[in-house]
Amino acid sequence: MSESSFKEMKFDRLFEQISPEEISDNVFTLGFAVITAGKKDHYNSMIGSGGGFGLLFKKPTTWSLLKADRYTLEMIQEEQTYTLSYFPNECRGQALFLGNESGRDSEKMKEVELTSVQTPSGDMSFKKARLIIECELTEITTPNPSDFFSQEAKDYISEAYKEPSDFRKLVFGEITHVWVKK
Ligand SMILES: Cc1cc2nc3c(=O)[nH]c(=O)nc-3n(C[C@H](O)[C@H](O)[C@H](O)COP(=O)(O)O)c2cc1C
Repeated sequence: MSESSFKEMKFDRLFEQISPEEISDNVFTLGFAVITAGKKDHYNSMIGSGGGFGLLFKKPTTWSLLKADRYTLEMIQEEQTYTLSYFPNECRGQALFLGNESGRDSEKMKEVELTSVQTPSGDMSFKKARLIIECELTEITTPNPSDFFSQEAKDYISEAYKEPSDFRKLVFGEITHVWVKK
């Protein structure tokens, strides 16, 4: 298929839905996610490498660790939905572009080579993703330095918490839809 016809393909030709229980990836080898919040007219993405999946309040849930000043975090709070997108190896270089600078003061969403796609619920991802997890925001917490016990974790957080904009936020999102490449 030519690159131009791929760019024209609609979401339902590219992706099929699976349940959270059917995700077959190993969370430890998945690699980074592109985290995207916003709708078609205005959305923003960043790279997130910390996080995982599991059950929270009996619901399939993802968690991510975001620095307080991320523009994507601001948009997650506003929209209360977002996507985690995972890419095949050959597209990771293009995706990493979204981790270079903040969308608050750049045009990275216009400059990125990846073609965006809207899910049926109106959330945003990218056509080259191989796995898309749509989330509805459950909780954002700010871990308190006194909550850390291992020396390594204490050292990490005391180094990280120099300014309020450096605070780390744990973001939990209930998984609402999972899509894989057809
Ligand atoms: C490989 C990689 C992993 C990253 N992991 C995280 C992460 O887990 N949490 C985080 O807050 N930032 C992480 N970043 C940094 C953000 O993606 C980066 O600062 C981004 O430009 C923020 O964009 P925004 O301000 O438009 O949201 C990572 C960057 C790279 C390149």
